[in-house]
Amino acid sequence: MWPQNTLTDRLNLKWPILQAPMGWLSTPALAAAVSNAGGLGGLGMWGFSAEEAEWRIAGFQQLSGGSLNVNYPLWPEPRITPETSEPMRARLQPHFDANGLGAVPQPTGAASEISREHLSMLTRAKPQMVSFHFGLPPPEIIAAIKDAGIFIISSATTVAEARMLEKAGVDAIIAQGTEAGGHRGTFTGVDISMQPGLFALLPQVVDAVRVPVIAAGGVADGRTVAAAFVLGASAVQLGTAFLRCEEANVLDAHRAALREPTDACTVVTDVITGRPARYVKNKLIEDLTASNLKPVAFPAQLSLTAPLGKTGDRELTALFAGQSAALARDTTAGALVESLAEATSECLRAFARS
Ligand SMILES: Cc1cc2nc3c(=O)[nH]c(=O)nc-3n(C[C@H](O)[C@H](O)[C@H](O)COP(=O)(O)O)c2cc1C
Repeated sequence: MWPQNTLTDRLNLKWPILQAPMGWLSTPALAAAVSNAGGLGGLGMWGFSAEEAEWRIAGFQQLSGGSLNVNYPLWPEPRITPETSEPMRARLQPHFDANGLGAVPQPTGAASEISREHLSMLTRAKPQMVSFHFGLPPPEIIAAIKDAGIFIISSATTVAEARMLEKAGVDAIIAQGTEAGGHRGTFTGVDISMQPGLFALLPQVVDAVRVPVIAAGGVADGRTVAAAFVLGASAVQLGTAFLRCEEANVLDAHRAALREPTDACTVVTDVITGRPARYVKNKLIEDLTASNLKPVAFPAQLSLTAPLGKTGDRELTALFAGQSAALARDTTAGALVESLAEATSECLRAFARS
């Protein structure tokens, strides 16, 4: 009943369960524990130099001989203008003052791309999988990564994006429903109010492409994993549930918020980083939304809001979370993979019996 396909075969997975690579929140220890339990661990490389990325991969390889997914969100150089940054800095200043943080810094941010250094590191370190968010790198980079024998996947938030990714040569596609925590992977600028939830998106993507489809967004327990398989998924990718694992690098205020979510506590907004992402709503989001100010270009807006996370105040911290956060529990990554595998098997058996 568990899906068996090119993805599970090529990556040698016992369970087609992927831990979402979540930037600096995903650690080598987290990814290794997932891969050691038979799933696929992921390491986010958001903001890491090629040298740092290689260290992170080496850290994983010291802890696990299993497969690894290395992830790159891609974006262009942000266009920072005083017309947007000055009103935003002024709006944030009272929060900085209240916490003794001094002046709101000038916004900073650089492009994220697969540089020559990253490419040569990847072809040397050879992680089994490289994944992308916010679209793909140029065709010659994709070709070079594939030539190194590395499996490539990327996120789609609509059927049209899935078709574009397949045409560009990806080996599998992540169908990211709107339930998902973290940044929306859209790269065609689809309005968030028009992006489908996973229940609608997944079967339509499965029908539209020939490559395996990985379900992401709101998948958090055996029932939701089994449902994704019934809807045609070849694998699942979970982010929010892995934030509750002790190996994840999650701020205390964020952990506290993840312990008491409800189904209706999250919101998709661009006010924290400059790009739409799903968070537990807090006072910072309410205040910046009420201001109606345009955020500074992604990711420079984050350089203005991130210092507030150091206060330890959850009302000022970026509380990334998906709509199924309440289904997750405090645990370890190995125990989470094992319990997901067991509960999914039970659901699939019950479904087959009925
Ligand atoms: C804290 C957090 C950070 C994330 N960072 C990334 C990232 O850097 N790259 C990426 O491809 N996806 C990222 N995602 C999105 C996940 O890949 C995935 O789509 C999402 O977590 C699935 O929904 P769920 O959170 O309901 O499980 C992130 C998700 C979260 C919760």
